[in-house]
Amino acid sequence: MQRIVIVGSGHLAHALWEGWHRNPREPRVIDLVARSEAHRALWNPRVWDTVSFSPEIVGSADVVVLTVKPKDTEASVGQLRPYLGVRTVLVSPVAGWSIAQFRDLGVQGPIARIMPNVSAAIGASTTLATFDGLASERRRAIEAFLSECGQVTVVDESLINPYTALIGSGPAYIFLLLKALIEGGERLGTDAAMTRQLVSSMVEGAARLARDRSEESLDDWIGQVASPGGTTEALLRVLDREGWPSMIQDAVVAASRRAEELGVRH
Ligand SMILES: NC(=O)c1ccc[n+]([C@@H]2O[C@H](COP(=O)([O-])OP(=O)(O)OC[C@H]3O[C@@H](n4cnc5c(N)ncnc54)[C@H](OP(=O)(O)O)[C@@H]3O)[C@@H](O)[C@H]2O)c1
Repeated sequence: MQRIVIVGSGHLAHALWEGWHRNPREPRVIDLVARSEAHRALWNPRVWDTVSFSPEIVGSADVVVLTVKPKDTEASVGQLRPYLGVRTVLVSPVAGWSIAQFRDLGVQGPIARIMPNVSAAIGASTTLATFDGLASERRRAIEAFLSECGQVTVVDESLINPYTALIGSGPAYIFLLLKALIEGGERLGTDAAMTRQLVSSMVEGAARLARDRSEESLDDWIGQVASPGGTTEALLRVLDREGWPSMIQDAVVAASRRAEELGVRH
């Protein structure tokens, strides 16, 4: 029986909880360490094996997943550290926080620094991971566990902040795009609920094409949609005029810089 403790009861905790409950590869219990009842509305409908307000329950955990904000990380690790076993794997999705910073706080056991996203809830996260102190067999087991929430790609730790901007925060770009498309459709009289279904499927299809047919460049794909003098050209002219591509690039850079700032302890 695998024993998982998730610390923090916010948005990511619940997305991961759902992901790990879909098709568990092995019997497991998933306990929650909450700080307060602030997010009770989120965790109440879900069946946590145990909900505790005390960090002591991490004592018998195989894996502890730390889903607290960067600003709460130092205090939270301070509370957990006396109970963390040397074989317990600390999984941290905390933006900006490096493995070295956890070592500075006295964490001695294995660490998996990860960057997932909220699509974990349906097993569709794209998760970046980097490991420290894990022998290969255990590391494979942790990768398999993480992959229940979606595909896992192991990267050098130096890439985690840039991928935080692209992947951890990434669904926000898409949700914003979907919202803008739905509202644009409404200006033309389309039904918002129906458009949401249709444009979400369209985004999924285009994304699969871009991923699976990578031998064709994205410019080629744009060219296949945009015939001269046609509708796509009309929309591209507006997006280009408004500086949309460089605006997105600026957003990516700003998010990565923010991840670096969040990792600096005050
Ligand atoms: N949300 C995402 O899409 C996403 C994606 C990738 C990575 N992340 C990372 O995941 C972490 C959590 O993000 P989030 O969006 O889930 O934040 P959130 O919704 O604000 O949740 C944070 C949770 O941590 C709890 N907490 C704080 N200190 C604690 C302590 N000492 N013991 C137990 N619980 C404690 C908070 O308790 P209260 O309920 O009392 O406030 C809250 O429930 C962040 O570090 C973020 O960088 C998030």
